Amino acid sequence: ARPASDNVLERSFSLRPTRPAKDMENIFQLIWNVIPPLAPRKHKGQDGKIGIIGGCQEYTGAPYFAAISARKVGADLSHVFCTKDAATVIKSYSPELIVHPVLDQPNALLEKWLPRLHTLVVGPGLGRADSILENAKSVIEKATSKGIPIVIDADGLLLVAQEPAIIQGYQRAVLTPNFMEFSRLYEAMLTEPVDSSDQHGSVLRLSQAMGNVTIVQKGERDFISDGDKVLVCTHEGSNRRCGGQGDLLAGSLGVLVHWAFPAGPEKINGQNPFLVAAFGACSLTRQCNHQAFQKHGRSMTTGDMIAEVGTAFNKLFET
Ligand SMILES: *[C@@H]1O[C@H](CO)[C@@H](O)[C@H](O)[C@H]1NC(C)=O
Repeated sequence: ARPASDNVLERSFSLRPTRPAKDMENIFQLIWNVIPPLAPRKHKGQDGKIGIIGGCQEYTGAPYFAAISARKVGADLSHVFCTKDAATVIKSYSPELIVHPVLDQPNALLEKWLPRLHTLVVGPGLGRADSILENAKSVIEKATSKGIPIVIDADGLLLVAQEPAIIQGYQRAVLTPNFMEFSRLYEAMLTEPVDSSDQHGSVLRLSQAMGNVTIVQKGERDFISDGDKVLVCTHEGSNRRCGGQGDLLAGSLGVLVHWAFPAGPEKINGQNPFLVAAFGACSLTRQCNHQAFQKHGRSMTTGDMIAEVGTAFNKLFET
């Protein structure tokens, strides 16, 4: 019934190592199944309240990109939890975001918010200050104890490499390392260098070592594993890399995780919802990159990609 997507799938999707491809053959269909219908009786918040943990004096763009991407994908609300000196700056970028200047101190306010959030995205613009990382760590610990799904990116991954136990075995987490972050994590967990000739095996082994936490290794191709399957997303983007693209991925993944996880196994054909969401977010990010590059070429920036979220989403999942 959805021939356009089916074609895209064949070009953009392959499966390894053990299960027949049939399992997740129509992954865009699975994503379409979990997209919440826009119904008149719904109340604000139901389709997603996403919390971004990040934003400090030096880095205010990353949390903004992640939070606004979540809104554009379809979250009702995005909350940014950042340091005091970043808050006014981030607010001034957009009236669409709720910004809490609370990341400087270990604090009860953030914990009070946690039960009201559907997903956390930890890391965009977090920075590397010890005290901030320490506070982010306690947020992760609280969130895991409450069973809240967590996406961890950027400097949040530094925290995981230093102290894997904070997330190890928590299968409601997705880590989204780039090449460097992946290598650091891999060496921390497996105490050997990454075998770059075996990306399938590397991402599978890292996921297993993390206790089957879903890992998205971003790159020319995106490798995604939950310790059981490996998906490869090769959906066409462009050769232009721009800083901030990872924030778009992390923010949209936060929303897709919230849709896929509570949807129930029948809607996603018994597949791991974190794997389905990760493949969706990778495809969407690549589609945004592709469309923005068509318009802007080399001058494309992350803002241009974010402007494409709506049409890219429709093209992939709603046609
Ligand atoms: C991870 O997944 C593999 C493959 O399904 C399984 O053999 C292993 O027991 C799982 N490990 C954990 C900690 O769940």
